[in-house]
Amino acid sequence: MNQYAVGEVPDYQMAALAMAICFVGLEREEIGSLTDAMLHSGATLDLDHLHLGRVDKHSTGGVGDKVSLVLAPLVAACGVAVPMMSGRGLGHTGGTLDKLESIPGFRTDLSLAQATRQLESLGCALIGQTREIAPADRKLYALRDATATVESIPLIAASIMSKKLAEGLTGLVLDVKRGSGAFLPELDRGLTLARTMIELGADHGCPVVALLTAMDRPLGRACGNAIEVEESIMALRGEGPADLMQVTYALGAEMLVLGGVATDRDDARRRMEVAISSGRAAARFQQIIEAQGGDPAVVDDPSRLPEAAEVELFTAGRDGVVAQVEPRTIGRGITALGGGRTRVADTIDPSVGFVITARPGDVVCAGEPLATIFARDAAGVASGRATLLEAIRIADDAEPPLPLISHRVTEAGAQRWTDDDC
Ligand code: URA
Repeated sequence: MNQYAVGEVPDYQMAALAMAICFVGLEREEIGSLTDAMLHSGATLDLDHLHLGRVDKHSTGGVGDKVSLVLAPLVAACGVAVPMMSGRGLGHTGGTLDKLESIPGFRTDLSLAQATRQLESLGCALIGQTREIAPADRKLYALRDATATVESIPLIAASIMSKKLAEGLTGLVLDVKRGSGAFLPELDRGLTLARTMIELGADHGCPVVALLTAMDRPLGRACGNAIEVEESIMALRGEGPADLMQVTYALGAEMLVLGGVATDRDDARRRMEVAISSGRAAARFQQIIEAQGGDPAVVDDPSRLPEAAEVELFTAGRDGVVAQVEPRTIGRGITALGGGRTRVADTIDPSVGFVITARPGDVVCAGEPLATIFARDAAGVASGRATLLEAIRIADDAEPPLPLISHRVTEAGAQRWTDDDC
């Protein structure tokens, strides 16, 4: 891996290795060696001097998944440092970096030295994978993308963990999405990925806890970039949609326990509720925005975020029950509006997207509003309408959606999530 990072091993040999791993898999020790090699191909954050727990969250990605934007300032406001390294949207899923960059002036390209200073002062830095971190992974990921070897669990686990371990974490929480809009839709593949990353963390002294959460419908109401930032600000002010808050509190509780500031998940939940109701969590987001060059006034006045030229309501075509709000179709529809990428080099329009108020299981009448389309122009509105017609299915009856949180996975194994866990 080190020789590959510096160009001494050619792409064609590495492509052959990636394909072999795809077919045959890797054993625990081999995944560990691969992760180590990618981790040590670059720099790592040394944050021991903070004398604080340092916990990040990683999501396998979805549509409307703005949890990171709420969770990072919330957990930092509760006393755990959050060195959060996120990615950009690609394919049908959105990316935290793109969402953050819809805040005027916000910069995510901090150097490791700048991120360290911000972690010392604010307990949180929201950054992208810098050139310094795991360069072998960066190169291998691009090669996997070009050789159809992305969807191998050992390769995914080593790729994610090499970057996470470079953050100098004392704990990591995973949000593994399942359902039609997820990167790995099937439950058994999600559980295997969770277990593989938990083992990798354990072998590197970094405890990892995973929650399996639903991505058979979008999370929250807003799906786009600026409109997701606005929903995240509302959540930090205590006005977030119930599903977004439930997932945020569940992941946050794990982070506060792993970070050593809460005795258990109930204690953690109370601390987070106080951080929100006191305004501390929203104030911390404002400080982070200011430190990273953004306009901090968006927290008090979200109308300062980019606004779409055209806004139109989408209504139900018939009476019935909302049987499906299909996230993959919504994600592709955002890209069609100009709000997502099909190629890494594409630029995006932060103002476009959908706010979808209809939830699976809702009983609706013809003419009732289900969603709002945010578009650049009339052609965008037409494309948005076509997306919603395809994505929101109204029927005479509906199957129940997936449980919002279905499993909690630790080194001890996977347990079903119950209402008592909330
Ligand atoms: N995200 C990563 O960082 N790596 C993968 O291989 C897949 C998702």
